[in-house]
Amino acid sequence: MPTDAQGITDVVAGVARERIHSAITNAWPARKQREFMLAQSAREGVFVALNADDDTVVACQFLDLYSSILPAMSHVASIGTFVRPEFRGHGLGKQLWRATKAYAVVNGYTKAAIQVRGSNLAAQSYYKSLGFQECGRMKGQVVVDGAPDDEVLFEMFF
Ligand SMILES: CC(C)(COP(=O)(O)OP(=O)(O)OC[C@H]1O[C@@H](n2cnc3c(N)ncnc32)[C@H](O)[C@@H]1OP(=O)(O)O)[C@@H](O)C(=O)NCCC(=O)NCCS
Repeated sequence: MPTDAQGITDVVAGVARERIHSAITNAWPARKQREFMLAQSAREGVFVALNADDDTVVACQFLDLYSSILPAMSHVASIGTFVRPEFRGHGLGKQLWRATKAYAVVNGYTKAAIQVRGSNLAAQSYYKSLGFQECGRMKGQVVVDGAPDDEVLFEMFF
């Protein structure tokens, strides 16, 4: 929900600050995140995992249209996943995917796609564990702090 915008920004900003996981190097401020969420179509959304103690967002998974302008790709979802460091490896990513995938299927997607940095072997292992298959690699696709990295492409057909 747009009310989660600040929490989502905090999680994504934390991952961006780590520099090693994502091509996102600057998270949007909460205001822009909120505007983005309000502008999402009815088939898109951000799933969040909340800390039971204080309701803060500890993990989130984005489900967006792969292309917002090409009807020919309206069956393809784009995914992004962010978990706060102290909550990683406890099954949150897997649980988020259960919710995201169910929502994607109900909303008419038949395929999901994701790009992961070549050096991010943990995330590649995560997406493979969900059933995604590697389907390509773009070499030198990102440069973060002067260091080039590949982007590995994964896809899953529902
Ligand atoms: C990658 C990430 C989303 C995974 O979420 P998570 O909640 O830590 O993952 P889960 O605990 O649900 O693990 C699910 C499976 O993923 C794989 N996995 C998760 N972390 C892993 C790691 N560090 N090394 C290898 N495999 C890993 C395992 O197969 C695991 O299954 P198992 O526990 O039965 O072995 C999370 O660690 C994260 O946010 N990392 C930093 C940001 C990032 O890289 N995002 C992806 C950018 S595209």
